[in-house]
Amino acid sequence: MRSKRLALLAAGLGLTLAVSACGANQESPQSNDDQGTGGNSSGEGIPVGVILPETATSARWEGFDKPYLEAALKAEGLDPHIENAQGDVQKFATLADGMINDGVKVLIIASINSELGGTVAQKANAQGIPTIDYDRLNLGGSSDYYVSFDNVKVGELQGQGMADALKDAPDGAQIIEIEGAPTDNNATLFYNGQQKVLKPLYDSGKFKLVRSQPIDNWDNQVGGTTFEQIFTSNGSKVDGVVAANDGLAGAVITVLKKYKLNGKVPVTGQDATADGLKAILAGDQYMTVFKPIKEEAEATAKLAAALAKGDKAAADKIATDESDDPTGKRKVKSVLLEPFLITKADVKRVIDEGYVKAEEVCTGDLQAACTEAGIS
Ligand code: BGC
Repeated sequence: MRSKRLALLAAGLGLTLAVSACGANQESPQSNDDQGTGGNSSGEGIPVGVILPETATSARWEGFDKPYLEAALKAEGLDPHIENAQGDVQKFATLADGMINDGVKVLIIASINSELGGTVAQKANAQGIPTIDYDRLNLGGSSDYYVSFDNVKVGELQGQGMADALKDAPDGAQIIEIEGAPTDNNATLFYNGQQKVLKPLYDSGKFKLVRSQPIDNWDNQVGGTTFEQIFTSNGSKVDGVVAANDGLAGAVITVLKKYKLNGKVPVTGQDATADGLKAILAGDQYMTVFKPIKEEAEATAKLAAALAKGDKAAADKIATDESDDPTGKRKVKSVLLEPFLITKADVKRVIDEGYVKAEEVCTGDLQAACTEAGIS
């Protein structure tokens, strides 16, 4: 079944892809060339909708999630229609309405905020379309399934990274925390995980918290200017920066460079993006968190295939973890995958596993660092 509108959506997406490919400085292996003009719809199989939230907050959404979801959904015999709302809540809602009206059999939601994701899920569910919350859980929402990583563990790895980086520093090391969007449940979980490691260090006086600041919409630019304000009003003193993802870390590093402090002040990150890995090899970023998004996409596709066939028992066998929704006061059946801490010594792993190409990171003056890290 393939309506005219879905075909149009697919054609429109081809255009979006072409445009974003020009601006993107990062591509995972599966994102290149072989997509033809249709972007991601083959017109074969059961139609499934996917709405991604943004492009600017992290290179992951277009660079990893989109191509991996496309491949995984196709491999399950489904016909993926993947759109990106570009951070626009209105556009997100319109895309969802279009997909619901066109009769997608499952809707996969990576929302901009819980309220929006919840509204979209409710509309789809009211039409008998099952929904999967993808990566971000919509608090108070109605999706029966959620696929993500263990996001508290992500935060723990970030906290652990900072503890490792400053283990030999004198007591009272001054830490600034640049956190994700308060409207993204993941940002809360990352923070909670970080504090598991950092709070005892703050309490003991090993570390001193200068300020912890959430950044609306994960806006990287705002993250940079906010960091600079906190840093300068602290007498231009900082010993470590916990940044919630590679995008925010990059913005922080730009500021540190201005003050000639890059490489001296450890910075954390997340997403193992090409830019993050480059900053690690350059010595400007201490660590990132590698979340194998291919696995996230594959688990989502398997769940979607089961739900598209109305086989809830099969879906339940896949989603054997559980997530807490404190707003909706319910548990959501989940797949929660394992994240990994990546420092300079492990950059090779992300490349060996095919997420980022060696050519993307081993550029110019990073050749020597690549050789040293065993990357060829
Ligand atoms: C994702 C992160 C991402 C962030 C900003 C979070 O919900 O889990 O991987 O860096 O959003 O897009």
